[in-house]
Amino acid sequence: MTAVARTREELKAARAGVSGRVAVVMTMGALHEGHAALMRAARKEADFVVATIFVNPLQFGPNEDLARYPRTFEADLEVCVAEGVDLVFAPSPEVVYPDGQPAITVDPGPLGRELEGAVRPGHFAGVLTVVLKLLHLIGPDVAFFGEKDYQQLTLIRAMVRDLSMDVEIVGVPTVREADGLALSSRNRYLSAEERTFALALSRALRAGATQHTAVAVLATAGQELTNLDVDYLELRDPALGAPPHHGPARLLVAARIASTRLIDNIELELR
Ligand code: PAJ
Repeated sequence: MTAVARTREELKAARAGVSGRVAVVMTMGALHEGHAALMRAARKEADFVVATIFVNPLQFGPNEDLARYPRTFEADLEVCVAEGVDLVFAPSPEVVYPDGQPAITVDPGPLGRELEGAVRPGHFAGVLTVVLKLLHLIGPDVAFFGEKDYQQLTLIRAMVRDLSMDVEIVGVPTVREADGLALSSRNRYLSAEERTFALALSRALRAGATQHTAVAVLATAGQELTNLDVDYLELRDPALGAPPHHGPARLLVAARIASTRLIDNIELELR
């Protein structure tokens, strides 16, 4: 049975008396197989799984896609039911932000202003603020996030550590289409032709990951991106600090295809 809570009171009532390990999967809806993979990982680890569906206005810039972001609640609920989610928390903006724009937000620190943060000022303050609020409201033992949004996952881990929060953060590998395209709620904006351009992102990452020096990784990946409007192609260490000379590293890319912005990343090994 999947219950639905829309207010803090309904959430509190549904959460009361729950025992055992509680997991949360936070989403903005428009659910796809990537979200379902998080729910399955949570289902395996926990006795009670909460999914949140909330398109968070605080993490969208003034010129971003808040208004047109897909809202598909009935279909989303079916996904949650199929994945055995116990409770769906789907609040309105008024429930999450009763006073409108909050005066106090989470500062994502220097990393919050790099990569995605350089192109989307305020984005990670909005993400971390809503993640913190949802963690407080739900009180889970463990929370699952996708590696698809690798910088987001990294900043959430840093927030939990730096603010001494008592929750375990688990990262889940990126779910892709058979041709390599990372699943994203924003893929539905793409026309058939734009989708073939979008494939360059994952192709570039795979090509880069065949190389083992920073220079070769970036050059090889860059060759696949010549026809795209690239925001960044960067190599970093796994915590998104400066790239190491050898050992595990992360290659991250963001590009615009027509009016759609897509991101992707891959793990690789430098030697
Ligand atoms: P959203 O984009 O809906 O993503 C919700 C969760 O699903 C995130 O943890 C994201 O990394 C994960 N996810 C998305 N696509 C994935 C894929 N192809 N494979 C694996 N996981 C994937 O990320 C957000 O929402 C918001 O910023 C949120 C954390 C909910 C805060 O508002």
